Amino acid sequence: MTGAPPAIRLEGVGLDFDGAPLLRDMDLCIGGGRITVLLGASGVGKTSLLRMLGGLARPDHGRIVADDGQPLAGRVAWMGQQDLLLPWASALHNVMLGARLRGDRPEPARARHLLGCVGLAAQADARPATLSGGMRQRVALARVLYEGRPVILMDEPFSALDSITRARMQDLAGRMLAGRTVVLITHDPLEACRLADTMLLMAGYPATISTIAAPPGAVPRPVDDPAVLAAQAGLLRRMLRQ
Ligand SMILES: Nc1ncnc2c1ncn2[C@@H]1O[C@H](COP(=O)(O)OP(=O)(O)OP(=O)(O)O)[C@@H](O)[C@H]1O
Ligand SMILES: [Mg+2]
Repeated sequence: MTGAPPAIRLEGVGLDFDGAPLLRDMDLCIGGGRITVLLGASGVGKTSLLRMLGGLARPDHGRIVADDGQPLAGRVAWMGQQDLLLPWASALHNVMLGARLRGDRPEPARARHLLGCVGLAAQADARPATLSGGMRQRVALARVLYEGRPVILMDEPFSALDSITRARMQDLAGRMLAGRTVVLITHDPLEACRLADTMLLMAGYPATISTIAAPPGAVPRPVDDPAVLAAQAGLLRRMLRQ
């Protein structure tokens, strides 16, 4: 990883669409080196907020800054619901895609190592079409890790997967993302309770954010931990009231 993972501060952030505020005067601190999980009803503004954190959209008001005073640009990697692998390139070349696009020298040994870490050592030469959905998301995770960025933004990264593959991906991601500044959007309360150091629930128009205590224990927390299951039920109750 290049550089220490920064905390990120939103200061008076506002975002308008079609003349109406989606976010207004939002102050928030996203902890450095921690996994922050962002939840909230569809359309509340989660992706819009993540896009601003990633520099893909600008706030109409206020600012977003890293606590170390350095620009966030160039320190962020993105992983979404779609794996966005190039169909004609092997898993190995997909992992090194960012380096190729930037004209950097690819590091196949490191890419192979990361494929091994996500359990795909034997599939390095396979094309995406020959891999399952879970395998492709694992290639996408290896690609994000290969980028070595201290900030990782994930927009519903596991939502297209079946529940067993999803639970395995949560285990893998929880282990491999440790120590980075991660913001992960999910609609799944169990995923939130397994992976979060901090849970943020967005609600309302314009949206406000409430912080919810994460269950005790190290991430990734076991699926059958009674504290995790109780927190999941509490979170679901709260989301149903929104
Ligand atoms: N570029 C845009 N132009 C106009 N409206 C937009 C734009 N991007 C997002 N919106 C609107 O902002 C609102 C929030 O969208 P956003 O994608 O952030 O929601 P979300 O919380 O991620 O929802 P979901 O859980 O369904 O992904 C929606 O009403 C959406 O239509
Ligand atoms: Mg979204």
